[in-house]
Amino acid sequence: MNEIEELSGLSFRISIIGFGAVGQGLAKVLLSKRETLQRMGIDIRVVAIADSVSLLKGSEGIDLEKALQAKEVSGRVGEEIDTGDGAREVLESVEHDLMVEATPTDIRSGEPALTHILRALASGKHVVTSNKGPFIHNHATLIETARKNDLMLRYEATVGGAMPIINLIQENLAGNTIERIEGVLNGTCNYILTRMADERLDYQHALLEAQELGIAEADPSYDVMGIDSASKLVILANTAYENDATFDDVKITGITEITPEALELAEKNGYTIRLIGEATRDRLVVAPKLVSKRHPLAIRGTLNIATIHTDLSKTITVSGAGAGSIETASAILSDIIHIYKRHEIKKGGGD
Ligand code: HSE
Repeated sequence: MNEIEELSGLSFRISIIGFGAVGQGLAKVLLSKRETLQRMGIDIRVVAIADSVSLLKGSEGIDLEKALQAKEVSGRVGEEIDTGDGAREVLESVEHDLMVEATPTDIRSGEPALTHILRALASGKHVVTSNKGPFIHNHATLIETARKNDLMLRYEATVGGAMPIINLIQENLAGNTIERIEGVLNGTCNYILTRMADERLDYQHALLEAQELGIAEADPSYDVMGIDSASKLVILANTAYENDATFDDVKITGITEITPEALELAEKNGYTIRLIGEATRDRLVVAPKLVSKRHPLAIRGTLNIATIHTDLSKTITVSGAGAGSIETASAILSDIIHIYKRHEIKKGGGD
């Protein structure tokens, strides 16, 4: 069937910047959900994809199957680019409505995603991102830039993969005062602790297994030193408290000192050890904690979990897959659909 012929009238045009696990996951999800989206009356067309070395454009809608194949076969999605800045070329030469920023996270500088997002907002594009980096040091600037330009910036995929939490705080819990958030925000650490307790595996062995599952960061010290959890905690806290906390505000202890013996002793007494992130308005802490084995935070394996303590709704707990390309793409797709619907309402003058 001809995907391009089916697209008529005014589609919602998106670019995908970054075509690694998350960008490719989104392409796969858009393909597998094509009929569902059509039934929902949602007409999304991908008009540009950039990876770190190449660029593919198609104003009529890119054939996503071919794009995925090209990436698999050659390691690049399209024509090589001399500038090394596919995002800029897309913004300058491709008409579209929304940019998906899915380049790898750089926790220290937030780049290149920070520049991509600010440029996209300055040139009138809505943005959906899975990239934690930009939010860790520049949360307020990003939110303010989107607001000033009357555009939407959604970032559900930055925390907890498929686990709904950012939009839960911003939308479902709107009007609540968030008193405290606590959670297991890193699947790699949780998997390591689970395996160490169950099998008395040593830490290195359990880490190797987590790496084989493909959930660990490229540099796994980001996971086990608590850096990834701290990044997610900053994003949650800034979302809940409309603060501008940064990574440096988090007191961090990782799991590298936890021994199988410590876990065994905890288990004998009905407890286990979990790496818990905890945020209040003025305190951000990531540290291993003893948790009763019957407590929801004693979640097992690669799952994430978060409990939000509020004044009106009391306690809300969510859990789900915190990593994985399809799971992360699910969060991105839901953000795209949300913006699409708002965009349609605006076009109809109803907003
Ligand atoms: N390395 C991360 C984790 C991936 O283990 O949770 C998702 O950010």
